[in-house]
Amino acid sequence: MTSFSITIDGRAIAARPGQSLLAAATAAGLDLPHLCATPREGFAPIGSCRTCLVEVEGEADLVPACRHAATTGLVARTDTPRATRVRRLATELLAADMSAEAAARHPASPFRDLVTRTGADPDRFGHRAGGHPADASHPAIALDPDACIRCGKCRAGCRDVQVNGVIALAGRGEGLHVAFDDGSPMGTSHCASCGECAQLCPTGALAPKALQAAGGPASVTASGETVCPFCSVGCRV
Ligand code: FES
Repeated sequence: MTSFSITIDGRAIAARPGQSLLAAATAAGLDLPHLCATPREGFAPIGSCRTCLVEVEGEADLVPACRHAATTGLVARTDTPRATRVRRLATELLAADMSAEAAARHPASPFRDLVTRTGADPDRFGHRAGGHPADASHPAIALDPDACIRCGKCRAGCRDVQVNGVIALAGRGEGLHVAFDDGSPMGTSHCASCGECAQLCPTGALAPKALQAAGGPASVTASGETVCPFCSVGCRV
């Protein structure tokens, strides 16, 4: 496939037709901020979190790097004051979607890393009310709904990568929440126990029970003895 050149923060990188700006940057070894996107094969960009917004020459508005196509000669900047400020704001708004108690329960996660990276104040806009009951019905994975920022990454992974389609975002507005099948507990739903959702969740809302007990999904990236008897994803918990 013929590649072409794009420029990000003054650096020329090769991109392929069909790649997003984020995918091209990631493939070239650049680490652009993002949250609801993943390079995982089969995962279609959601574009819900807006933490990947960048400036693109010729575009008046900031564009999400995960959904903006890399095209010949494209010139993008990730480090302008406007892009930096808006990504920080987007992160602060996402942080408000977690209850204060849930934020304290999950001190280590990709989302917390993003908070640090963007310099966001996670308490700036207060926090959503907590008290939604956890779902611990599955033998290996637990849902802490108060830690969910409703990015939709679990649903996309379940539907697009694993082709299970068990997870939905049900409800509207403030009541939007992760649901399994028609509202069944996770443990009695048609969940195939693949572990995709727990591996993708950026906050620890959906995580292996052992990791939730340990304070978050950060250690998913560390190798160790496998304790989960169900997961075939290979997250090496
Ligand atoms: Fe692009 Fe979430 S990573 S909108």
